[in-house]
Amino acid sequence: MTDRILVTAATGTVGRHVVTELVDRGATALAGTRDPGDAGDALPEPARAVALDFERPETWGPALEGVDGLFLVLPPGLDRDRVTDFADAAARVGVEQVAYLSALGAEKNPLIPHYRIERHLASAPVDHTFLRGSFFSQNLHEVHARDVRERDEIFVPAGDGATSFVDARDVGAVGATVLTEAGHRNAAYDLTGPEALTYDEVADVLSSALDRRITYADPPIPAFVRREYARGRPLGFALLMVGIYTTARLGLADRVTDDVDRVLGRPPRSMADYARDYADEFRRG
Ligand SMILES: NC(=O)c1ccc[n+]([C@@H]2O[C@H](COP(=O)([O-])OP(=O)(O)OC[C@H]3O[C@@H](n4cnc5c(N)ncnc54)[C@H](OP(=O)(O)O)[C@@H]3O)[C@@H](O)[C@H]2O)c1
Repeated sequence: MTDRILVTAATGTVGRHVVTELVDRGATALAGTRDPGDAGDALPEPARAVALDFERPETWGPALEGVDGLFLVLPPGLDRDRVTDFADAAARVGVEQVAYLSALGAEKNPLIPHYRIERHLASAPVDHTFLRGSFFSQNLHEVHARDVRERDEIFVPAGDGATSFVDARDVGAVGATVLTEAGHRNAAYDLTGPEALTYDEVADVLSSALDRRITYADPPIPAFVRREYARGRPLGFALLMVGIYTTARLGLADRVTDDVDRVLGRPPRSMADYARDYADEFRRG
């Protein structure tokens, strides 16, 4: 149980939900962001924005003042050493527990940065809780909404492979729970939704929620990379997505666990829940 919690990447897909859940639980939530002026207005009361930039160590001390619990995120594209250095600084000033947002299978995959960060935290003088998330449902609108809006299609190269999509709101709720309730220190959770779905099945769920026909395109990898690149996405990001969708294509992303239910005491949100709640993101005009 920690009292004062710093959430890193607090404006991000998961962090924003950690902050909301902490506020609901009556914990003191500090929302770490590079731009506290901008983020402050969007925060639920009484959460407070604090300046935190992993690349500016001079922001670390003030952000960590009096903090007992840390929700730690590696922002996409950032050097992992910035995050492990920050975790070391947190341990030095007396932070008791770090809940780290990792990825499903990270403990067996030295190719991804989460592997090394987990190992670093496991041997650091601070309690850890690893939250190994499956692929977020929210990627569908954050990355791919335009294809659905403009072409009524999901355009990802995942073949017939199924993915155990997890809702980022549930990941955020788990983050807040493990930092505010006893019994989660030095543990790891594999966070998935209630089922694994192919993208044909996701298209069906979206079709029902949107009341129009959405199809799954399953493009060849070069066509996918070309389209993402033409839209201004960095090549590295497009290739990262290819890696993720290839994992799904190979049938390696379909593991379903009951860890969300075990931590939250309720089942995880389904793809149908997500599609209903985020339908406006996919509507035209
Ligand atoms: N997407 C998935 O399906 C998935 C699944 C499992 C695990 N993950 C992992 O989740 C992590 C990303 O989490 P997310 O999707 O919640 O994040 P996100 O939405 O990509 O947001 C990242 C946040 O990081 C902050 N940030 C960027 N650079 C920073 C810096 N130098 N110092 C401090 N903060 C910085 C930004 O906030 P400000 O601009 O306000 O500073 C931004 O809001 C990644 O490590 C990824 O591997 C993702």
